[in-house]
This record gives sequence, C-alpha cells and structure tokens, in this order.
Amino acid sequence: MRLEELDINKKVISHLQSLGVVDLFPPQASAFETGVLKGKNLVLAIPTSSGKTLVAEVCMLKAILDGRGKALYLVPLKSLAREKYDDFKKYEKLGISVAMSVGDYDSPGTRLREADIIILTTERADSIVRHKADWIDEIGIVVVDEIHLVNDSSRGPTLEMVLAKLTQMVQAQIIALSATISNADEIANWLSAELVKSTWRPVPLSEGVYLDSEIDFFEGDRYEKRSTRQVPRKYKDEIVDMVCDTLDENGQVLLFVSSRKSTVTVAKRIGPSIRKYLSSDSMKDLLRIAKKIGSAPTSPEESKTLAKLVAEGIAFHHAGLDNQERALVEDLFKGNLLKVVVATPTLAAGVNLPARRVIIRDYRRFEESLGNYPIPVLEYKQMAGRAGRPKYDKYGEAVLIARTESEKEALIEHYTLSEPEEIYSRLASPTAIRSHLLASIAAELTCTNEEIDGLISNTFYAYQNDQRKIAHHVASAIAFLEDGKLIETSPTGQYSATLLGKRASQLYIDPQTAIMFRDILAQVDEHTQLGILHMICHSPDQSVAYVIRSELEEYEVFVDDHSKEFLVEPPDIEDENYTGFLGEVKTARLLEEWISESTEKDITEKFGVGMGDVHRYVQSAEWLIHAAAEIARITNRSSHIPSLHSLRSRLKYGVRSDILELVNLRGIGRIRGRMLHNHGLRSFSDLYHVPIDELARIPTIGRAIAESVKKQLGVDVKPSQSPVDESEDDEDLGSMQTLLDDFTQ
Ligand SMILES: Nc1ncnc2c1ncn2[C@@H]1O[C@H](COP(=O)(O)OP(=O)(O)OP(=O)(O)O)[C@@H](O)[C@H]1O
Ligand SMILES: [Mg+2]
Repeated sequence: MRLEELDINKKVISHLQSLGVVDLFPPQASAFETGVLKGKNLVLAIPTSSGKTLVAEVCMLKAILDGRGKALYLVPLKSLAREKYDDFKKYEKLGISVAMSVGDYDSPGTRLREADIIILTTERADSIVRHKADWIDEIGIVVVDEIHLVNDSSRGPTLEMVLAKLTQMVQAQIIALSATISNADEIANWLSAELVKSTWRPVPLSEGVYLDSEIDFFEGDRYEKRSTRQVPRKYKDEIVDMVCDTLDENGQVLLFVSSRKSTVTVAKRIGPSIRKYLSSDSMKDLLRIAKKIGSAPTSPEESKTLAKLVAEGIAFHHAGLDNQERALVEDLFKGNLLKVVVATPTLAAGVNLPARRVIIRDYRRFEESLGNYPIPVLEYKQMAGRAGRPKYDKYGEAVLIARTESEKEALIEHYTLSEPEEIYSRLASPTAIRSHLLASIAAELTCTNEEIDGLISNTFYAYQNDQRKIAHHVASAIAFLEDGKLIETSPTGQYSATLLGKRASQLYIDPQTAIMFRDILAQVDEHTQLGILHMICHSPDQSVAYVIRSELEEYEVFVDDHSKEFLVEPPDIEDENYTGFLGEVKTARLLEEWISESTEKDITEKFGVGMGDVHRYVQSAEWLIHAAAEIARITNRSSHIPSLHSLRSRLKYGVRSDILELVNLRGIGRIRGRMLHNHGLRSFSDLYHVPIDELARIPTIGRAIAESVKKQLGVDVKPSQSPVDESEDDEDLGSMQTLLDDFTQ
C-alpha cells in the first residue's frame, strides 16, 4: 500500500513523502485497513522498528484535521518524549502545533491548551487528569506508546489508571503501540480495539549467540534461517573482537551491560582499539567536543572519563549521567562520530539508534530482593530491537554471549527463539491503589463505592482478574485515606476529599507523604535544616542513595550524634528498616552538601553516585519541600513556610542563602553567583552600580553575561558583538549546551 492511498489531507501526504515515506510497511497497511482512520481503537503489536510511530502520527493528524480534537501522545520516559517532540515538530510546517510537558506536576498545563499534539509522560498525564485541566474534553485521540509497560510495577498502575480515567472523562480514540507480546489480544479486548500483530520487520534482524569466535545466527519470521559467522580473534578480549568485526564493515555497535559501573569499565577496555576506525576529521571533531566535556576543574571524575573516551570514539551511557551528557552521547552516536556506545538497558526503549550490531553482554540482572536473575524475554527483544533501524542500516544483528556449549543452547532456546512473555496488570499494590483512589475522589470522578467499582472495572486489572480480588485493597485504601483525614464519608456514603486530600492529589505525592508532613509540621515548632531534609528523604516519594557496607559505621555514628534533630524517630539498630533509614540520612547529607555549594566532583565522589542521581535527588526533594510548604499553609502551620521556601530555592540553585538574590538573574547560578559575591557584589543594587567593564572582568562572567545582567536590571547598555550565552550559570552545563548547539546545527 502506498501512503498516497490513505484518506488523509494531501498536505500531510506530500509532507511525509518529502521525508522519504512513500510505501507503507505491510503491518502499517494492515493497521490502516482496520478502520483506524475512521476513529476505531487500535492495538499495534508489531516488532521493534516496524514503524509504529508513523501509524500513530497519521491517525493523530487525521483526528486533528477532521476536527475531532487534540491528540495526546503518552510515553514512559522523558528521553523518549524528547525524541518524539523533536520528530513531531516537523508538523508545525502544516500549522499543527506540538507541545511537550514532562515535569511540573502541580499545574493543569494551561499552556498546553493551545497545542494540537501534546506529548506527555504517563505521570504528567496523570497529574493533568488530577488537575482536571479544562481542555481534557477537547482530547480526540490518545496514543499510548510502549503500552506493554502496564507490566512495569512502578509505572504500570499509573498508565492503567490514566487510561481508565480518560475513558471515563472523554470519548477519545485510543491507539496503543507495543512491542510484540504474546497476549496483545488481551490488551486489545481491554481497550475494545482492533488488533494488528505481525512479525514483519523492515530491516532483517539476525539474533544469535556467540561462543568461541563464532556467532550462531537465526533470522526470519520463524527464525528459520540459520547461519554462522566467524569472528576473527585479534584481541585478548572477545568483546573487542566482536566490536571490531562490525566496525571493520563500517557499522556501529551498541553494547548493553547490566550495571553503570560496567558501562565505564567495558568502554575503557574497548576504547584503545577504536581509534583506527576514526577519520582524521572525526578525530578533530571528537577532540574538540571532548575538551569541553568535564572541562571545569569542579567537574565530576566520571565526566572527565567520558571526555577521554569520547575522544577515542566511544562512550558510556547510563541513568547516572546528567541529561545533557546523555543527550550528547545519543547525538554523537546518531551522527556516526561515536562508533560504540556501552549502555545500561535504559537505552532500550523506543529510541532510534544507528546500531548495526547490538551486543547484550549481561542477560542477568541483580536486584536485592531477587538476587541475580535472568531478564525477561521482552527486555531482551527490546535491546535486540535497537539493531538495524531503517533510517540507518540495511540489516541488524543482536548477539548474546555464552561461555559454554550448554549455556549457548539455553540462550538460543530461552531468548533467541522465544516469544516475549505475557504481560500482567500490576495494579494490585496498596500504594498504587491508595494514591489513585484519592486522586479520583479528589477530582470528583468517583464519589461512591459503585463509582469506584466502575472506575476499577475500566482497568486492565479488572479485565485480567476477578474484580473481587482487588476489593480488599480498595477497602483498605479507603480506610487508610479516612484514618489519615484525606477523605470524608457523608452519612449517605458519599466520599469527598478534604482540603489536604485535594492538595495531596494535585501535588502528586503519596497520601502517606501528605499525612507524614502534616503530622510532623503540626508537632514541631522549630526544625533544623538536617531535620527537614531528612523528613523529605523519609517520604516514599523520594528516591534515596544506598549506604554501602563500608559507610555503615560513619552513618550510625552520625545518626547517634544528631539524634535530636531528626523529626522522624530513628528505628532500632536491629530493625529491618535501619539501613534504609541510614540511606535517607545519607541522601539528606548529600542535599546539604549541594546547598552548601560543594562542587559536583566532591559530591559525586563523596557519596559514590553519578551527577544524574544528584540532579534527581535534588529535583524530587525540591518538589517535596514545595509540597511541605503547601501543607504547612493549608494546615495553618505558616511559621514553617519561610524556611521551607528558602530551602526550596537553595535546592533549586544549589546555593547558600547569601546569594539567593543573585541567582534570580538569568545566566547566574551557583558558580557565577559565588564569584560575584566574592568580588563584593552581593545584591541587585551592587550589580546595578558596578561599572560594566569591571563586571565583565570578573572570572566566569565576561562581556556577554555582564551585558545581560545589566539589561535585566534595567540598565541601558550598548550591545556588543558577542552572542549571549545565558543557558546556565554552571560552566559545565553551559558549555555542554553550546556544544550540543554547535553539533546539531
Ligand atoms: N513507511 C515507511 N517508510 C520508510 N521509513 C519508515 C516508514 N515507517 C517508518 N519508517 C521509519 O522507521 C523507523 C522506525 O520507526 P519507529 O520508531 O516508529 O519504530 P517502532 O515500531 O516504534 O519501534 P520500537 O518498538 O523500537 O519503538 C523510523 O526511523 C521511521 O522514520
Ligand atoms: Mg516506538
């Protein structure tokens, strides 16, 4: 089927044609034959890289242009949201506006009202439903990308509930995209949708297992084609052999390992063998870029390691890197400057990368509760599916590594030739239920037991199970919310949220967090910085660092020394929660270092975490402090508010209080702010009066920032020639941003 045969505006067709889409892939054609352009629901469960997004795009454009309403595009991860946003921006030429929102959970997203296509993470979509944004009834179509993630214990329940609520609130078409799963029919029945399943892939993918210099490959719809490939032994390390085998044929390699630490060690091991594959131009570009990564003396050691590797044409990628470094690695790989990326499986979902060969070194993963267990087939297929994407390659290869013949046979049977597992609803978890019930009561979606049953009956859980199985979870969640005074029940059995219940739901915090904050703030009149930061870290909404064995004693002593400051009683040393408590304390101390202006290098080294982790801890703590201040306000504990507000700003900028005024200026953050302060410039007034030349001479400031600062303070300055880079104050981030701009131009 050709694209032009579709019943859609000609402008859309020519636009897509100009981007190279002429013929539809067979599963895309099957999808359009279901009547999806007439508004039918669809579940599209077809292999990785078979072009699911395009089907969704055409359906969204059709709905928008036919006046059926706005399109929501839901994704599980922020990185995927960004990739889709960059991709869909192309439709702005057709007068379709595109917006993305992935943070700021305490707002109804009024700005989004203007957009036609709105890309949201599942959590953000949930928060918008909680705020009952006034544009929800304008939604005409909802696309759920990677819907197999209902199987994910943390994101799954939210995804199900968002869909259940949206279907109660609006009559929208639903398009669900999924990698192949064996029970896609269940998802389709749940959503009253047509199902399109296929094993077709636009680019052939060979999946195989490596043992003793040979890869045994399987290919085809039923893996009917078998072949072997000899991998020349040139290096001591078999992984290096396998990498160079692909580089020898001008391909690129993506290597998955299970831990962050391994991404770095493996990349270091491969690095020296990559150089010879780089052209002299690439080498120059890489060197120029590498010089800017982690160039500040205060940069974390890991950024410096990354810089060294980038210069060699290889990089590592994991969730501990900060967002900009991750985006940079992805872009350099896409631009074929980096030949190899070693990643954790976070890079496995949905992204389009130019990997001809994907090597999956670790098929086991360690989790404290489960030990070392083999990953699900679905995850293996997702990783394998990054190889051979139509934009980049004519074929792809995915390789597992075996040590013995019997392991090889087992891997072929369990992964290569296996169907992904069935997926299950994860809704039956007390935390998920209490939070979502509070949300739906607060939004007045469900006010009676019957209405709650009605909502639950819309979930995948209810589709897969006897709804009565979940009844006791519902009953105990209601009791929990009543006891905590987040909801009230009228004599006629009508539920309503209290003021605290409503705010807790809108603030997107666990009901347990709201109850804890309220009770603590009611009990204490004064708190120390450590006390309040620890309270935040004690919330189930805050992820915290682990305390490793060698740190135990240090934190035990610390807890003893500061026992009076904790607003939450430390558990007994024998208690099973004790180590968790130490982790909260460790995170609180990390936050204290951040707001004392310790350098990124010092923080990451002292706490053994990556900069991405630091940013995550800081962002969620900042959010929870905002929530605590809101709770103080509505429960008449306003004496706590000023210190909470100040702490929130300090977390946001990572500064001591004496430069809080300065960091309000664009382009001034923790480093430049401190520099100004050290030069005696401590207020807007000081900055207003200082001669511009003097300001520009201060290290890290320069002419452009000096001009920008003066302008922001209302001083009339003659513009100089140099462009203003106000991206961030922090030299690391600033240079990284410019670097990305340089590269993507
Ligand atoms: N009909 C087509 N003709 C040419 N290229 C296409 C066509 N449809 C999609 N593509 C291209 O195929 C690539 C893969 O598409 P897409 O990202 O939608 O895969 P996917 O099915 O969502 O895979 P995954 O399960 O990995 O997310 C994209 O680069 C896209 O532009
Ligand atoms: Mg996709």
